[in-house]
Amino acid sequence: MKFDTPATTNPIDQGKVIGKPHDRIDGPLKTTGSAPYAYERHDVVPGQVYGFVVGATIAKGQIRSMDLAAAKAAPGVLGIVTAASAGKLGKGKFNTAHLLGGPEVQHYHQAIALVVAETFEQARAAAQLVKVDYARKPGAFDLAAARDGAKMPETGPSDADTAVGDFAGAFAAAPVQLDATYTTPDHAHAMMEPHASIATWEGDKVTIWTSNQMIAWGVGDVAATLNVPKENVRLVSPYIGGGFGGKLFVRTDAVLAALGAKAVGRPVKVNLTRPQMFNNTTHRPATIQRLRLGATADGKLTAIGHESWSGDLEGGAPETAVAQTQLLYAGANRMTAMRLAVLDLPEGNAMRAPGEAPGLMALEIAMDEMAEKLKLDPIQFRILNDTQVDPAKPERPFSQRKLIECLQTGAKQFGWDKRSATPASRREGRWMIGMGVAAAYRGNLNMKSGARVTLDRDGVVTVETDMTDIGTGTYTIIAQTAAEVMGLPLEQVKVSLGDSAFPVSAGSGGQWGANSSTAGVYAACMKLRETIATKLGLDPAKAEFADGKVSVGRKHVALADAAASGNLTVEDSIEFGDLAKKYQQSTFGAHFVEVAVDSATAEIRIRRMLAVCAAGRILNPKSARSQVIGAMAMGAGAALMEELVVDKRLGFFVNHDLAGYEVAVHADIPHQEVIFLEETDPTTSPMKAKGVGELGICGVAAAIANATYNATGIRIRDYPVTLDKLLRAGMPEINLTA
Ligand code: MOS
Repeated sequence: MKFDTPATTNPIDQGKVIGKPHDRIDGPLKTTGSAPYAYERHDVVPGQVYGFVVGATIAKGQIRSMDLAAAKAAPGVLGIVTAASAGKLGKGKFNTAHLLGGPEVQHYHQAIALVVAETFEQARAAAQLVKVDYARKPGAFDLAAARDGAKMPETGPSDADTAVGDFAGAFAAAPVQLDATYTTPDHAHAMMEPHASIATWEGDKVTIWTSNQMIAWGVGDVAATLNVPKENVRLVSPYIGGGFGGKLFVRTDAVLAALGAKAVGRPVKVNLTRPQMFNNTTHRPATIQRLRLGATADGKLTAIGHESWSGDLEGGAPETAVAQTQLLYAGANRMTAMRLAVLDLPEGNAMRAPGEAPGLMALEIAMDEMAEKLKLDPIQFRILNDTQVDPAKPERPFSQRKLIECLQTGAKQFGWDKRSATPASRREGRWMIGMGVAAAYRGNLNMKSGARVTLDRDGVVTVETDMTDIGTGTYTIIAQTAAEVMGLPLEQVKVSLGDSAFPVSAGSGGQWGANSSTAGVYAACMKLRETIATKLGLDPAKAEFADGKVSVGRKHVALADAAASGNLTVEDSIEFGDLAKKYQQSTFGAHFVEVAVDSATAEIRIRRMLAVCAAGRILNPKSARSQVIGAMAMGAGAALMEELVVDKRLGFFVNHDLAGYEVAVHADIPHQEVIFLEETDPTTSPMKAKGVGELGICGVAAAIANATYNATGIRIRDYPVTLDKLLRAGMPEINLTA
């Protein structure tokens, strides 16, 4: 099905199943611990043995020699894979560094060997016996130091630099100006389930049970790395314990499991231990961001400038932190720029709302600072500078843009009128109280997505697609879509996901999964309706599907009858035309936060959080809310605790476990609320939906930083906002030298 004109009324609009807060259909499996995750697939193939990854202990250089004798002689060891023994490997499209390093080492904990043994413990013990002699080379590990040498990126977005009007002139002439620099640290995805795979070969065909967000990308990258045809690679990933972008691409575990299995002639399972994950896999790169804003005295932005510096390995891409600044606020004169430094740290890549998440951490503090200079309420300032068109191309409207409504609804609901405009002026006992706000913005992307649907004689519809559910609720919204279109109760729909044997879907990335994958299921179900009606001798154009029946006028036939003589199976996909070019499709929101800061210790406590989101049709308010509160918690982590600490001498992330890399937990956030505005966007797909999984994190950290400023009068521009930074900046009532 080609989608190239805005959707009109269709079966989804009935809203009998879609739009209802159904419990997740995979919930019982998840809550009873019986959802089969990749590493637990003891059942799929007999004779599994264990691989343990040996990671490089230098950040950059050469392996002079490896002594494998002791490891090979260790109990239970079946074989050892190294770059020297693996044969010539290719490189996947989505990996910057090689997944098996050697003799060149590109980053700390890059895999340089896999030790395969009968048990996990034997493999791990033998891995300690691998002796490596390195020739270490000096590397660049410090973004601040590398900033001046940063260059225009060669890969990544084509719009590294944008310019509209005369930014420099307008900024210089602006009566009110802000010029401030903000920094965000490297972040780890820190998903619950580590990267894990089991691989087995049958002849020249490999099957890998893994934990991966994008099955078709993964098949392509495994094939490219192993130099085998794509047809010979099967990836299976039906349950995933979180990804956040860290599992968009196949990683070491998948490729080394396949190489290990080939080497020892047995199925091999590999997982990364938690301490291996932080330096072996990808992370969200740190940024340095300079914001320059110029405005008239009455608060109209006339100049908006945003420059971002980030680093990556040679051949990598920049963090696109300026993305939202091109579209969020009006202003005739504007510029954005991204510069990329070569850093020899582990590979940077996408993490939940790549670009906007760190970008809004800077921009939305800058907007708060500017509002203060203008003596305007920060909500009023944002409303004053709203735009309903792409500021660079005024002929191009937003398809939907309810930012003002998000801000106003949130202000009312949150009790914004109780905020004091004067910082450090609200007290409750020893606690200093503050409120902060930030806009949320994330682009909407639509990706081609396919599905196969089958009707059986029991009237059950089965959906098969390689789409993944990374904890987001995909199983449920796909079942809701099929139920709605086919006129069935949810219980009459079965959903099978995450297998490359199924039609290629959009996959789970960039918050495009919900809208795109359900639209693909919609397309397949519409085709199935036609097939069913024809089979039943009914006019497909007139047939109505409801309550398990197909009806034309007074004639009603049970849906199941169409499959009486055999299953009916059809396949289709949704393909997107250029509506996303004609309209700027984006998701919007507003985050409100109240914090209390201890006047004696500078400890920051979040008290309340509210998100108001406008993101097209909400397919399932329960799973969507779950996405947003999870994202808000992640934003709280980014604001107050998350930071990969770089060892700038040796080039690795020091805090590589969940004791040292702190993330926000339930106890950190006593109260969260989410409001979804009524919205359907006919330009995005027949579903009229968008995504919320990434929108939910966008702006959160800035809202918390702004609330902390409102509480204390101290502006921290360097994330995370920790109490030591408040103390050093001079908390009003704490005298450190006393
Ligand atoms: Mo997302 S960072 O595209 O999983």
